[in-house]
Amino acid sequence: MRGVGVEPVLAAVERDFAAAVARLVELLRIPSVGTDPAYAEDTKRAAIWLVDRLRAIGFEATLRPTAGMPMVVAHDREAPADAAHLLYYGHYDVQPPDPLDEWKSPPFEPAIVEGPRGPRLVARGAVDDKGQLMTWVEALAAWKAVHGRLPVRVSILIEGEEESASENLEPFLVANAEELRADVCVISDTGMLGIDEPAITTMLRGIAYFELRLRGPSRDLHSGMFGGAVPNPIHVLCRVLAALHEEDGRIALPGFYDRVVDLDPAIRDQWQRIPFDEKGFLDTAGLARSVGEAGRTVLERLWARPCCDVNGIWGGYTGEGSKTVIPARAAAKLSFRLVPEQDPHEVGEQLRAFLAARIPADLDWELVPMGMGRPIRVPTDSPFLGAARRALARVFGKEPALIGCGGSIPVTATIHRRLGMDSLLLGFGLDDDRVHSPNEKFELACYRKGILAHAAFLAEAAKLRG
Ligand code: BES
Ligand code: MN
Ligand code: MN
Repeated sequence: MRGVGVEPVLAAVERDFAAAVARLVELLRIPSVGTDPAYAEDTKRAAIWLVDRLRAIGFEATLRPTAGMPMVVAHDREAPADAAHLLYYGHYDVQPPDPLDEWKSPPFEPAIVEGPRGPRLVARGAVDDKGQLMTWVEALAAWKAVHGRLPVRVSILIEGEEESASENLEPFLVANAEELRADVCVISDTGMLGIDEPAITTMLRGIAYFELRLRGPSRDLHSGMFGGAVPNPIHVLCRVLAALHEEDGRIALPGFYDRVVDLDPAIRDQWQRIPFDEKGFLDTAGLARSVGEAGRTVLERLWARPCCDVNGIWGGYTGEGSKTVIPARAAAKLSFRLVPEQDPHEVGEQLRAFLAARIPADLDWELVPMGMGRPIRVPTDSPFLGAARRALARVFGKEPALIGCGGSIPVTATIHRRLGMDSLLLGFGLDDDRVHSPNEKFELACYRKGILAHAAFLAEAAKLRG
């Protein structure tokens, strides 16, 4: 396979791009909201669509049941046994589309809209992760179409529960370790620095997510008859949540920073040179000022420092008009983003101790873990990272930056731990893609370059072995 030309593959990608967009539109039409049981059948349909597509391009593809959403597993073993072996990972589930009234077009009726940087595809899952996983599916298809075979060995794993904590992933990886083990895991589920600014992600934050439920009075009480003399669970909840942060932005859990590794000065230097448009970044969120730990740049806070956010809070009367009650219950969802070498389970214990010391004894409470993922760093000197660098440089005409990512892709740590494999994070999203928000989009330019980059990467990976 050595010496098989990448040029005709890149040309085929360009020629076939309109059809590649049409295929992505088809996948985006399937409302695969993995977390919502009402969409369970639709979510499975997305998995079946992928199996069919992978079979159509010549993969041995199977739908593998789990206790939750099925896994899509596929292989192409036609390349010589000594060729590099890549495991591609993606997720076909998407976030719930609400609030629906904020979408300019329905979330599962993909719209191609002209934006300031060319046409973009607007739909739930456009960039996270259907559009991104299709970049490598299309690249693999183009190689097969042009050369009849791939220049490397390829396995594929696509799950349907990434957005809801991947409960069934780890047991699946363990049970199928031999089948899935490869030289490196390739993932497109992160971002770039700009539409013409390619990047490879080398650090991902981990996550520890919880629901905290408080119960005070045995029923909602008249706030005149009881107010001032009995505990209000909303007040208690607000106090403990407010106490999670110190005045200077640091997180107040005792021991929380003990395992935090300070950023390598060489990486800090590298990040300092990244042309990060802080104003533009805040602008995409409709904000003018950043917050966070003193003495750290915004990029460092996002990529290399832990944080804590309340993601939801409820309790009491929230309907129209007024109702004078002291509520029986109050609750919140909160998450911590973690950095090497923090352990999500240990953070859970720290949080539990913190709450136990603050919640008055006559309130019942429970802390329910909702998903854990470890932070990761990937080696920056691996041959696969080198191959990816060359591929991106070729397609973008510019060396990729090595960046961090504030979001979490827990599978990377699980694959490292269970299969002993590093991940290669080649993402094509942009900061203004509205990931998890209404009007999520993927720039068609990013989709096209993503496909080209993966096609070029296959050629580079083929040179590594064999
Ligand atoms: N693709 C995202 C991770 C991501 C977010 C990368 C933003 C780049 C920028 C992934 O699908 C995701 O949303 N992960 C969750 C993990 C959680 C559900 C365990 C996250 O980060 O909140
Ligand atoms: Mn994703
Ligand atoms: Mn996501």
